[in-house]
Amino acid sequence: ETKVIEVDPLNIEEEKIKEAAQAIKEDKTVVFPTETVYGLGANGLSENAVRKIFKAKGRPYDNPLILHVANVRSFLEYTYISYTLLEKIERLLPGPITFVLKKREIVPNIVTAGKDTIALRMPAHPVALKLIEYAEVPIAAPSANVSGKPSPTMAEHVLKDMFGKVDYIIIGGKVEFGVESTIIDLTQGKIPIILRPGPIPPEKLKEIFGDIIIPDFAYGKIEPDYIKSPGMKYRHYAPNTPVILVEHDDVDTMVKKVLEEVKNYNNPIVLCLKEHIGYYKDHNINFDTIGSEANYYEFAVKLFEMLRKYDEKIDAMIIEGIEDKGIGIAVMNRLRKASYKIK
Ligand code: TXA
Ligand code: MG
Repeated sequence: ETKVIEVDPLNIEEEKIKEAAQAIKEDKTVVFPTETVYGLGANGLSENAVRKIFKAKGRPYDNPLILHVANVRSFLEYTYISYTLLEKIERLLPGPITFVLKKREIVPNIVTAGKDTIALRMPAHPVALKLIEYAEVPIAAPSANVSGKPSPTMAEHVLKDMFGKVDYIIIGGKVEFGVESTIIDLTQGKIPIILRPGPIPPEKLKEIFGDIIIPDFAYGKIEPDYIKSPGMKYRHYAPNTPVILVEHDDVDTMVKKVLEEVKNYNNPIVLCLKEHIGYYKDHNINFDTIGSEANYYEFAVKLFEMLRKYDEKIDAMIIEGIEDKGIGIAVMNRLRKASYKIK
């Protein structure tokens, strides 16, 4: 039996959060909103509780979870970190970014899939922060989707994927970013490595850390190094309907390629930028807009919504690619992965 709680993030009723926090203390599972996507949480210090997350999601046990905390002090409690590094990290807290650091004993192995590193994140969502505070323990949480499906960004997504599988679902409106947090690895030498691009772009990280490494797999272009982030070997962001991503620097060429792809299917939809509506509207084809050239954040926040909206309703989603810059890197990483043929 799943209990659904609705909260207004701008006017939080404390009693509702306290009830869900009590559930966390009792080793139960709670779906909650964050600024990136919804998470499926449980007491991150309890092996028994964390096992329930893997079961609800159908997630393989060798894919480690992110531990969510509500203050900067927690970084000292759960990781080995120098004060100089903590000062740098602090500038990004709270926020849509996760740090891979050397873990302390107190973090159970089930959270980290036996690794000696832990992914730690302090979310910038008032409901998430309050839930962690009242629970008085860090909350381990992956995205609240069934394993392999696009991450949930709206209430209807979590209800579809998680109702009946978890103890509580906190509905807290639409998320702010729509793509999962940026993950950087701070354990491989002096220069941070981006393991997963997200809302915090490389330019911002360069300001703080100086140098930053963006491996090819972070763009979603090549197979990742499984050892560094075990989760990356699993199929991600994948609707059942084929996703055809069309990438090209030149708009006219891209549109031409999109129109060629359209011919290959009986009932496809084209997902294009607002600025490009004019190219498609007179072709008697099905299309929808997914954001605008002027604002990649809008593209990001609509991405998973669109992948879910048209899944199994049509026979192909033909999507216009955007530039690998800013949050566009995160968008293209997810789109390239969603469009992998077989995995
Ligand atoms: O925005 C987010 O990060 C969301 C919200 C709920 O916080 N969470 C999220 O969790 O996206 P999840 O489990 O869907 O993705 C976490 C990724 C996985 O690919 C996992 O393999 C990687 O983080 N990861 C976790 N611990 C790691 C570690 N110690 N080293 C390297 N990668 C790690
Ligand atoms: Mg996920």
